[in-house]
Amino acid sequence: MGKKSSRGKEKKQSVKAETEKLRQERQAVLDLLNKANAAPDLMAAYPAFRRYDRNGLAAALVSCGVGGLPPGDAPWAFALCKANMQALYDTAWGWDDASKRDELAATEARFIVVYTQAQEGGERQPAAYVHYRWEEEDGRPVLYCYEIQLEPRVQRRGLGGFLMKLLELAARKVGVDALMLTVIDANVGARAMYTKLGYLEHESSPTEEEAAGYGILARRLTAYAAAAAPLRPVTNSYQLEQLIFS
Ligand SMILES: CC(C)(COP(=O)(O)OP(=O)(O)OC[C@H]1O[C@@H](n2cnc3c(N)ncnc32)[C@H](O)[C@@H]1OP(=O)(O)O)[C@@H](O)C(=O)NCCC(=O)NCCS
Repeated sequence: MGKKSSRGKEKKQSVKAETEKLRQERQAVLDLLNKANAAPDLMAAYPAFRRYDRNGLAAALVSCGVGGLPPGDAPWAFALCKANMQALYDTAWGWDDASKRDELAATEARFIVVYTQAQEGGERQPAAYVHYRWEEEDGRPVLYCYEIQLEPRVQRRGLGGFLMKLLELAARKVGVDALMLTVIDANVGARAMYTKLGYLEHESSPTEEEAAGYGILARRLTAYAAAAAPLRPVTNSYQLEQLIFS
C-alpha cells in the first residue's frame, strides 16, 4: 500500500513538472512573439537595407510596425495585390476583395514599403511591399510572409530577393524557428525565387495528390530542439533537412 501511494505521488510530481515545463516553453514563445510584434522598426539593426540601389533601381525601404500601412498607401497596396494576384488566386482558393482588404488592415499585419523617387526632391512613389506577421505555427514561433508584391516596373531587378533576405535576417535575429509562406503553384516566377533562396516544402503543405493548387514553404532558421520532439517518419524534404542538420 505504502509503496503504491509513493509511486502515485512521484507520478503526480513528474506530471506537474512536465506541465510546468510546457507552460514555461509556451510563455517563452508568447514573450518572443510579443516582443517582435512591438518592435517599431524591422530594419533598426540593418541600416544597409534602408536603400536599394542596384540594377538601375533607386529605392527607399520604410518599416511599418504597429499601425500597419500608412493610410495613404493602403488603397495602392490592395490594388497592386489584386492586379498581380487575382488570376493566380483564382487557380487556388479564389480572390475576394473584402477578405484581402481585411487581411491588409489586420492589427497583426506588419509591412515594409519600398518607394522610388524619379528625381531628387521629387515625389516618392510606392513601388513594392512585404506584408509579414510574427505567428505561432504548431506551437513554435515563426515569421510568416503573407505577401510580397512588386509593381511590374520594379520586377526582375533583384528587389524581391533583397526583401526576402531582409525578412530572413530579421527573423534570425528575433530567434524564430522559420520563415514561412504560401505560394500558388501557378506562380512559377515566385516559386523559382523561393527555390533559389533555399525554401523547402513544409510538412503542412498539401500533397501533390491533394492538388490544392498551392504549397506551404519554409526556410528553417534555427536548429529547434529536434531531440525534444517525438520522432516522426520522414515524408518530405523539409523533415529530411531537419533530420540531417538539426
Ligand atoms: C515574385 C516577385 C516577388 C519576385 O521579385 P523580383 O524582384 O521580380 O525577383 P528577383 O529579381 O529578386 O529574382 C530573384 C530570382 O527569382 C527568380 N524569378 C523571379 N521572377 C521570376 C520570373 N518571373 N520567372 C522566372 N524566375 C523568376 C529568378 O531565379 C531570379 O533570379 P535571376 O534574376 O538571377 O534569374 C515579384 O516578381 C512580384 O512581386 N511578382 C508579382 C507578385 C507575386 O507573385 N508575389 C509572390 C507571391 S507568393
